[in-house]
Amino acid sequence: MQVLDGKKAGQAIREEIRLQVAQRLTEGKKIPHLAAILVGNNGASTTYVGAKVKACEEAGIRSTLHHFESDLTEFQLLEKIRDLNNDPDIDGILVQLPLPKQIREEEVIRAIDPEKDVDGFHPINQGLLMQGLPGFIPATPYGIVLLLQHYKIETTGKEAVVIGRSNIVGRPMSILLSQPGPAGNCTVTLCHSKTQNLNEHIRRADIVVAALGQPEFVKADMIKAGAVVIDVGITRVDNPSKKSGFELKGDVDFSNVSPLCSWITPVPGGVGPMTIAALLQNTLLACVRRNN
Ligand code: GUN
Repeated sequence: MQVLDGKKAGQAIREEIRLQVAQRLTEGKKIPHLAAILVGNNGASTTYVGAKVKACEEAGIRSTLHHFESDLTEFQLLEKIRDLNNDPDIDGILVQLPLPKQIREEEVIRAIDPEKDVDGFHPINQGLLMQGLPGFIPATPYGIVLLLQHYKIETTGKEAVVIGRSNIVGRPMSILLSQPGPAGNCTVTLCHSKTQNLNEHIRRADIVVAALGQPEFVKADMIKAGAVVIDVGITRVDNPSKKSGFELKGDVDFSNVSPLCSWITPVPGGVGPMTIAALLQNTLLACVRRNN
């Protein structure tokens, strides 16, 4: 078994981005600027947004964090997005999900200018992805593609099973794995909560992407020997013996599954850092498209 080290691969990509941003600076070109919006004080969201802002800083990308109280109205958030859409200095806009229940996520996502939608959540970008046209690919599946490419994992002709059909991860992941191109050309099965004989599907897979958000759901007896296992899950599970009071668990029972795999991502340190690298890549791309 070998570990798909997202921390190492992510760092290599971020360094490459840093060099490209520095090159833009020497050429007198615009430096990318990301606007991140955080509503409320969800612990995990605060950590993720903090990590994204810090990664921007390290790559020389400008970032502005707009942090609002949890009682923000949808109207107020839409107004903020309109301002950021109209601000020529802003290249990318990210609204951290989930949002408080008084705010409709679909309305917020649709309000973001698709050309600044570095999360790739806007229906226009999801449509472009489906047709294999250039747009923005959601950061988590894009990060997984970059990770598979970094480790030169062969995907062509393989059976891939994606568990979870979210708009953010599972569904776009299934499209990317089936498309012609890098980390593609797989025969893909998209499994979800209503799938019958789930274990049989997973046991057939050469590549498993677990993105259902249930800690340690994927067990050793579901995995074919030699499979590549990508664990997208990152759930905080109470553990009073930890200083933080919790530990992070993936969707895969790592200790029992890993001996069977050819490659596997750890949690943390697998998909998470790749998501951040992919976001930076999208932000740089947005800046290049908007300003050359
Ligand atoms: N919440 C969970 N994942 C993501 C993500 O990739 N982007 C945003 N904006 N929110 C999320």
